[in-house]
Amino acid sequence: MEEIVMVSRQFQHPTLLGLLEEKYRVHRLWEASEPEEFIKNHCQGARAMVTDFSKAPKEFISLLPKLGCISNFGVGYDNVPIEHATDLGIQVTNTPDVLTDDVADLAIGLLLSVARSIPEGDRFVREGTWSERSMRLTQSITGKKIGILGMGRIGQAIAKRAEAFRLHVSYHGPREKPGLVYPYYSKLEELAKNSDFLVVSCPGGEATRKIVSRKVMESLGSEGILVNIARGSVIDEAAMVELLQNGKLGAAGLDVFESEPNVPETLLSMDKVVLQPHNGSATDQTRIAMGQLVLDNLEAFFAGKPVPNPVNQV
Ligand code: DGY
Repeated sequence: MEEIVMVSRQFQHPTLLGLLEEKYRVHRLWEASEPEEFIKNHCQGARAMVTDFSKAPKEFISLLPKLGCISNFGVGYDNVPIEHATDLGIQVTNTPDVLTDDVADLAIGLLLSVARSIPEGDRFVREGTWSERSMRLTQSITGKKIGILGMGRIGQAIAKRAEAFRLHVSYHGPREKPGLVYPYYSKLEELAKNSDFLVVSCPGGEATRKIVSRKVMESLGSEGILVNIARGSVIDEAAMVELLQNGKLGAAGLDVFESEPNVPETLLSMDKVVLQPHNGSATDQTRIAMGQLVLDNLEAFFAGKPVPNPVNQV
């Protein structure tokens, strides 16, 4: 039986662990109090590793001499040191496409939740305040300008949904995408200046670290809404908190954070933010589909066939 190292527990997937254990000898790294010792003593035969979007396997890779594949449960793979893996001839795979719609739905859901203060309205009803007074007015989104940072698969799915709300879509990314009708801004700050809402849907990693800077958020402005369904690392989180506090940034809908599961304390008491626990792809249907891709990529790797979802060339 082939051996694999599974970095964390269940990846919020109902059955993936069981499915893996039917086919492979799974080393449960999350149960080890000293993971590096555990790898040295028990996992030397492992040829594959399964990880998810919040756990970095970097420190473990060099301890696994037979490692040939890292199957990542998630489309984002900023948790995996790709260059290092490529240098070692390790194939990295991910789970694209199957989660695009759910993540795009959550982006729009967060935008609506923030603009229409849906969580606040919910509390207002539950706490009985409605019988004392009316709730404050909220903001409409129809006809406003939405800027999308990162016009990949998820960005484009957000744009399609935004069009249904008659939002005017523009975008920024490393380059203009051929075939898209939406106006392109080569400077993120300019996009923010010309948007009512800025939705972050680009990959995480060094290239995008804190590109949503203080200046970008100031350009979005005191009425602007920032939505992040990408990675916490893309936003200067400390600056965001400060700008929200002093009213220089209007509001935010956040599914991801710099140091998950830790969320800046100040955000917890702000009515102008709506928070989610990195839930973009967290539906039964999508998690099952993601798990299937993890299994498919492993199966192909062990069969010596081309993997369906490679993220590097080895
Ligand atoms: C991913 O798969 O990278 C997403 O962050 C899931 O929400």
